[in-house]
Amino acid sequence: MSFGPRSTVLVTGANGLTGSRVVARLAQAGQPVIATGRGARREAIADLPGVEYVETDLARAGSLRDAIERSGPAAIVHCGAMTDVDACEADPLQAWTANVSATAEAAMAARAVGARLVALSTDYVFDGEAGRSYVEEDRPNPRGTYARTKRAGEEAALLLGVDVAVARVAVVYSARKGSKRTFAGSAAEALLAGKEVKAFSDQTVSPTLADNAAEMVIGLLRSGEKGVWHCAGGSAVTRFDFARALARTLGANEGLVVGVPLSSVALAAPRPRNSSLRVDKIRRLLGSAVPLDLSAQLERFARERVR
Ligand SMILES: NC(=O)c1ccc[n+]([C@@H]2O[C@H](COP(=O)([O-])OP(=O)(O)OC[C@H]3O[C@@H](n4cnc5c(N)ncnc54)[C@H](OP(=O)(O)O)[C@@H]3O)[C@@H](O)[C@H]2O)c1
Repeated sequence: MSFGPRSTVLVTGANGLTGSRVVARLAQAGQPVIATGRGARREAIADLPGVEYVETDLARAGSLRDAIERSGPAAIVHCGAMTDVDACEADPLQAWTANVSATAEAAMAARAVGARLVALSTDYVFDGEAGRSYVEEDRPNPRGTYARTKRAGEEAALLLGVDVAVARVAVVYSARKGSKRTFAGSAAEALLAGKEVKAFSDQTVSPTLADNAAEMVIGLLRSGEKGVWHCAGGSAVTRFDFARALARTLGANEGLVVGVPLSSVALAAPRPRNSSLRVDKIRRLLGSAVPLDLSAQLERFARERVR
């Protein structure tokens, strides 16, 4: 089946940070969308024309396959996943089911109905020890249950699907109404209330505004390109620098941001020290301005807050 501007796209994780923006952007472009998610349709994707909502449970074998086979989409954007890194560490079986088995199911169902698949993944496939930002050709070395299941999900998608692209995003945040709470959202509220915010000064990441991630993922979907793509924001910063830039954008006191080392917090799952992603490849595909640098993202984030 060939994919075009009027073809139906099925999106998983449609209530989530990235999935909700993929659904909204596709719907705004007039593309018919089957939005699938856990439980009822939520606020982030309410009232969008051309969007049918189908409840699916990635943890139940066959639930996603049935949704795909019933609707026969021309493309699938697989954003659904168990994304709580520490919860994954505590429950490897649930993490495997949601992040690997469901992705394998998406790939096999995509193959069966002749759909293109874009499967989302993470910067955490890297161990963060290279001391530089990662390119797509770098060899993954995932640490921790979330990271290992996401890497296995990448392999499942690439091995079992036919027309497949993997889109790695990182540290996703959004201020859209109804979107999940993230570090940036909580930090913004605290900073504007004059409260201190602690942020890791020794963890380097590529923060990605969910709306910008959706732009890149949809661009990749439409391009027809296969393989692995980094679809993250264009700046590599420590979480401390991220929070200080956020404070400046909001006109808050950046002195409220206090840098702390990763070792100061007992976390169940390991965190890579520098899992920032190079985005040159997606820049070449979609244009240099598409992966937004941090200041452009934060300006958009600030506009989202007041909408
Ligand atoms: N968030 C990040 O910082 C981040 C970083 C790197 C990579 N990623 C990757 O980006 C993709 C999109 O994640 P996101 O940022 O949009 O995070 P998210 O907001 O947590 O979205 C994930 C969605 O998957 C849904 N989901 C989880 N378990 C499910 C199940 N058993 N059945 C059906 N739906 C289920 C969640 O439902 P509920 O809303 O009900 O929980 C949620 O809506 C994922 O592949 C993730 O691994 C995310």
